[in-house]
Amino acid sequence: MATTLVTGGCGFIGSHFVRYLLQRYPDDRVVNFDALTYAGNPENLRDVEEHFADRYRFILGDIADSAAVMKALHEERPQLVANLAAESHVDRSIHQPRLFLHTNVLGVSTLLDAARECGVSRLLHVSTDEVYGVAEGEREFREEDALMPRSPYAASKAGGDLLVGAYHETYGTAVMTTRGSNAYGPSQHPEKFLPVIITRLMEGAKTPVYPPGTQVREWTHVEDHVSALDLVLRKGEAGGIYNFGSGERRQNLEMVRAILPLFLRGEDAIEFVDARPGHDARYALDSAKIRKLGWEPRRRLQEALPELVNWYREHESWWRPLKDSRDYQDHAMRHYGNSALKRDLSGEGRSVA
Ligand SMILES: NC(=O)c1ccc[n+]([C@@H]2O[C@H](COP(=O)([O-])OP(=O)(O)OC[C@H]3O[C@@H](n4cnc5c(N)ncnc54)[C@H](O)[C@@H]3O)[C@@H](O)[C@H]2O)c1
Repeated sequence: MATTLVTGGCGFIGSHFVRYLLQRYPDDRVVNFDALTYAGNPENLRDVEEHFADRYRFILGDIADSAAVMKALHEERPQLVANLAAESHVDRSIHQPRLFLHTNVLGVSTLLDAARECGVSRLLHVSTDEVYGVAEGEREFREEDALMPRSPYAASKAGGDLLVGAYHETYGTAVMTTRGSNAYGPSQHPEKFLPVIITRLMEGAKTPVYPPGTQVREWTHVEDHVSALDLVLRKGEAGGIYNFGSGERRQNLEMVRAILPLFLRGEDAIEFVDARPGHDARYALDSAKIRKLGWEPRRRLQEALPELVNWYREHESWWRPLKDSRDYQDHAMRHYGNSALKRDLSGEGRSVA
């Protein structure tokens, strides 16, 4: 029985990854090491705790806490480690950049040291397309392209990427990096782009959009995201970097306009809010390298987007407490300028009848 230690398993992608591993490898154990920040939600894995109790363990801990990480590795002796613990929200990084350095840089360095000391066979570093910065014109980023991050979030992730490369060169650490595009799917925190749109429309309110709305993102379903992570964790070349994206590139406004009819709403439900500083105009990845390894995205927006809307419709008891939490309200009040969302939170009344 092999053991995989997943960090950040209570987050959005992490919880899908933990479930995927337990279902796909019925002889293996999964240990989830998570600090349970505002983004870590034990509800995401309630079913796993029930159905896989004999092969699943949760450990509360911070990946930047060397003693806690070492203790977990000594106790569990995992062959594989996948790091999905991160501060992941660009908007929050604008207000709290140091927090992002703590987890996304110091945390990665702590894991790299601990994995080396404990003889972990393979370590996966989960990064993002945002480290490349803006993909101008028709450009698709390749793995060897320069890193030009433009938000504190992206810069902190790029810092982790550089450490990983340096550890591979210096110590021969068998560590692989993925740079995935925007993920979407069930149980994504309601502060993120698609859940904001969907939950605001469910509330009968206006949905905030950063101007001009022409920003392009490449949307990869979380099921395809976790299959890419698993493939690279097991089959990726040590020290290798792997981009992956579905190829489904859409302007933000296109995404909003695809969702509006599902709520029988029109353009008047869109509210342009203050621009986000350092907002990248376009991301696009060349995913040829991981496709050669055998990765194939299966989910398409056309069927997955209505499915996602239905998931949020059916799981208001999941997202409502997160949206009502003090943490989310403080973040939204600080982040959004004069907007319907902010007026709604401050109790000045609903934005749209
Ligand atoms: N969501 C996306 O669209 C996307 C796209 C590409 C790459 N990624 C990357 O995938 C990874 C997972 O992203 P996500 O969207 O699931 O994030 P998330 O914010 O939903 O979850 C992060 C998880 O990490 C945990 N965590 C945070 N700090 C920690 C710490 N110091 N120690 C231990 N646990 C900690 C949180 O409690 C939470 O469970 C991140 O590395 C992110 O950069 C995300």
